[in-house]
Amino acid sequence: MRPGQNNPRSNRGNVQKKRAKFRWIKITIDLNRPDHRRKLLLVLASLSVASFAVVLSAYQGYVYSESSAFCGTTCHTMDPQYNRYQHSSHANVECVDCHVGSGFEYYVKSKVEGLRQLYTLATNTYSRPIKSPVHNLRPAREICEACHTPTTFQDNIIKTITHYDNDQASTPVVSTLILKMGGWHAATGISRGIHWHITNPVYYLAADDQRQIILWVGVEQSDGCLREYFARDVILRNKTALVEEARHKGEIREMDCIDCHNRTAHEIPPPERLVDEASALA
Ligand code: HEC
Ligand code: HEC
Ligand code: HEC
Repeated sequence: MRPGQNNPRSNRGNVQKKRAKFRWIKITIDLNRPDHRRKLLLVLASLSVASFAVVLSAYQGYVYSESSAFCGTTCHTMDPQYNRYQHSSHANVECVDCHVGSGFEYYVKSKVEGLRQLYTLATNTYSRPIKSPVHNLRPAREICEACHTPTTFQDNIIKTITHYDNDQASTPVVSTLILKMGGWHAATGISRGIHWHITNPVYYLAADDQRQIILWVGVEQSDGCLREYFARDVILRNKTALVEEARHKGEIREMDCIDCHNRTAHEIPPPERLVDEASALA
């Protein structure tokens, strides 16, 4: 038979032979031969360039997925938060610095939470507006205290607020406030002012998701005991059982920065203030 002619029988034989003869490719590298050395070097160099490129792109992807632009612009659902963030005093603090913080554990948790968010986005089941308080936010003290420490809150802040009246002349009404910042004074061990609330452990139980109706407050004393305060609504109930049950369910919350500074980085100014600011410019 001439070569190249189609012979089904011998073809079948070939396939069987090929199967039977399958072996790993044999590569012989003889480092004594200069051409082998050159080829080996070439292969190693291209491998390292390729792996560098892979690592670099993975790293770039990681950096981008941690950036505020990614968190704020990838999903249009973040528009309001991103917009207000850009106008806040935290505009140069990355979203992840407050929402994730340092540590591998929180990085993994945030990625898992990200998947859940992606699912609710894909299935159009996320709540509008996005609910706050954010219940799985990392304890604020671990985040905020990386930059602000209660020991540095010493001075009072003087605030001057100009409001324009509704009369024809838009008469300015100026209020000057002294905000007693307080904080903890290391030398005396005394804490005072509004930041007393974070230099002393204060616990509370809220009746609602938004933490607006407070049923119970417990303030830790210097001897470790709790001084307790109950809302009028629970006076007729078994108070100890109420607190114990809530503690058991993990519903008792220790007050932290977010209980007061809940709009930090995302403050939405009330319309009256915007009108006052616009009037000041006019
Ligand atoms: C200075 C810290 C800080 C930075 C920076 C920050 N956030 Fe927040 N963010 C918070 C806090 C605190 C809350 C929780 C408020 C609460 O639980 O009441 C929050 C809440 C949110 C919420 C829930 C809805 C709401 O409005 O309360 C979203 C969404 C959000 N942030 C997105 C972002 C995005 C996107 C960025 C970056 C572009 C960002 N945040 C940057 C502190 C920050
Ligand atoms: C990476 C550092 C960083 C982190 C983390 C951070 N802040 Fe700030 N914060 C700043 C800087 C910088 C300013 C601006 C100071 C200035 O303008 O004088 C600021 C300003 C503030 C102000 C005053 C201005 C305002 O917006 O009212 C408050 C209140 C505040 N931060 C609270 C918080 C809280 C609460 C958290 C945690 C959720 C937090 N910060 C996390 C760096 C940080
Ligand atoms: C009980 C409420 C409360 C708690 C809790 C609280 N703050 Fe404040 N904080 C205030 C008030 C009120 C002011 C003064 C008003 C203002 O400037 O916003 C203030 C002001 C500030 C300022 C502005 C300081 C300046 O010089 O402008 C920073 C920063 C700040 N707090 C950080 C924190 C951090 C961080 C925590 C948690 C460790 C915290 N606060 C917990 C109520 C609170």
